[in-house]
Amino acid sequence: MKSETAVWDFYAPVYNIFMRSNRKAYEQMYEKIRKVIAGKNVLEIAAGTGLISKNTASSAKSYIATDFSGKMLRQAGKGYVPDNLTFQREDASFLSFDDSTFDVVIIANALHVIPFPEKVLKEIDRVLKPEGVLIAPNFIHDNTQIVSGAMSKLLSAAGITFEAKWDENGYRGFLEENGWKVTYDERLKATIPLMYVQCGRASEAELRYETFDPFEKYYPRVNYKNWVPNGMIAAFCAGTGVLAAGAVGLSLAKSIKPAIRKPAAALLAVGAAGLGAAAAWSIFAHEKFSYKGDRKLSKQIVEGTAKHIRLPENGTGLDVGCGSGALTIACAKRNPGAKMVGIDRWGAEYASFNKELCEMNAEAEGAENVRFMQGNAVSLDFPDETFDAVTSNYVYHNISGVNKQELLLETLRVLKKGGTFAIHDIMSPGRYGDMQAFVEQLKEMGYEKADLIDTTGGLFMTKWEAAILGLSGSMLLTGVK
Ligand SMILES: C[S@@+](CC[C@H](N)C(=O)[O-])C[C@H]1O[C@@H](n2cnc3c(N)ncnc32)[C@H](O)[C@@H]1O
Repeated sequence: MKSETAVWDFYAPVYNIFMRSNRKAYEQMYEKIRKVIAGKNVLEIAAGTGLISKNTASSAKSYIATDFSGKMLRQAGKGYVPDNLTFQREDASFLSFDDSTFDVVIIANALHVIPFPEKVLKEIDRVLKPEGVLIAPNFIHDNTQIVSGAMSKLLSAAGITFEAKWDENGYRGFLEENGWKVTYDERLKATIPLMYVQCGRASEAELRYETFDPFEKYYPRVNYKNWVPNGMIAAFCAGTGVLAAGAVGLSLAKSIKPAIRKPAAALLAVGAAGLGAAAAWSIFAHEKFSYKGDRKLSKQIVEGTAKHIRLPENGTGLDVGCGSGALTIACAKRNPGAKMVGIDRWGAEYASFNKELCEMNAEAEGAENVRFMQGNAVSLDFPDETFDAVTSNYVYHNISGVNKQELLLETLRVLKKGGTFAIHDIMSPGRYGDMQAFVEQLKEMGYEKADLIDTTGGLFMTKWEAAILGLSGSMLLTGVK
């Protein structure tokens, strides 16, 4: 960072003089920005000498202008500064702000001089509210124009390196490749043409390119996915559409005898209604479970279960069927002096979960005391009494053809004497048999403590929620071996 700031520290005193040649384009830009930020909480990245912030902040609710060059910011602090404008030193790639903090983020004429602009866009995505606006005006390098071509060569010679030289389409493409949807753009005349751009987030379906993002590897974001995957929703919606289209098509196909056509169309319509209901349910459940939704049911269940896992210093716990790693990581974070191991079958039924996802989530959560490996709950590949605690959430009900109480005993087999257990699942009598008798059996086997807690009575969810989401009978089996 030091060598990069040095160039900007050097140019800070003369930056405004240089920018005077672009005054007209900048005035037009201020006008547009003032309208967008009216009454909003704004963050500006790479704010330089405060040209934009000082000319627009008074229409915002609050405005934080940041730059990584101290000298640029010192220059910005000179002269008139609106009351609601503050300056702060920040590296655009590692912003210190919380997720979803700002209504508007502005980054002007900076993405092309930053070595890793993709990473900066990721940080913007993190600190911007879901419906927030990104304003990212940028100079456009257009070598067909003599003045702008000569100017960019002059700047390069002066030590201001352009990491990217986008033309209009190239810049739009770059933003879209990185998950942004350009909602408005306009080319403004300046020494080097200035493209004024406003963006919102592109929905996944609108992303133009399916790209492998190398930065994901180095700057991962937490993504525990969803117990109701997007693929399931898409399949139900597509099935509904196909059956509905078939029903309409058949009812219009007058060449087919009514005696065949009518009942067949009715059958397809019933099928479409059934799949439509399944689609509506899956969308509803997806939203309830989502870590990004209002209810955050998965998070509540995972954290509520993790609370019961206490590991001794240097001890090791096991999470059976760890999925995307949420419970393993939650336990690891609650027990920083110990380790957690997460195992999963990672089969086709939960195709979005895998070991790499777990590892990425652990890295993003800063949990270094975790390890993930392939394993089968039916027959764990560990000797008896290996772990100081065992846990699991909503796993065993997925495993058909195996006695659920035997599955529990297999998990408890690898637990050390004196170790804690917290196992949450849909333990309805139809699936698990008599769980009260099982608890008594554990006590007879010498377990220090064994309790069965109904989690649908308000602890994790209400009875109503459990019924709608197909989670009735959810129980937490806890205790000490
Ligand atoms: C609903 S997800 C729960 C994931 C995770 N426990 C959580 O709370 O987010 C069910 C998980 O059970 C895993 N699973 C199913 N059968 C399994 C088996 N026989 N052995 C290990 N894991 C299994 C699936 O792969 C999936 O990750």
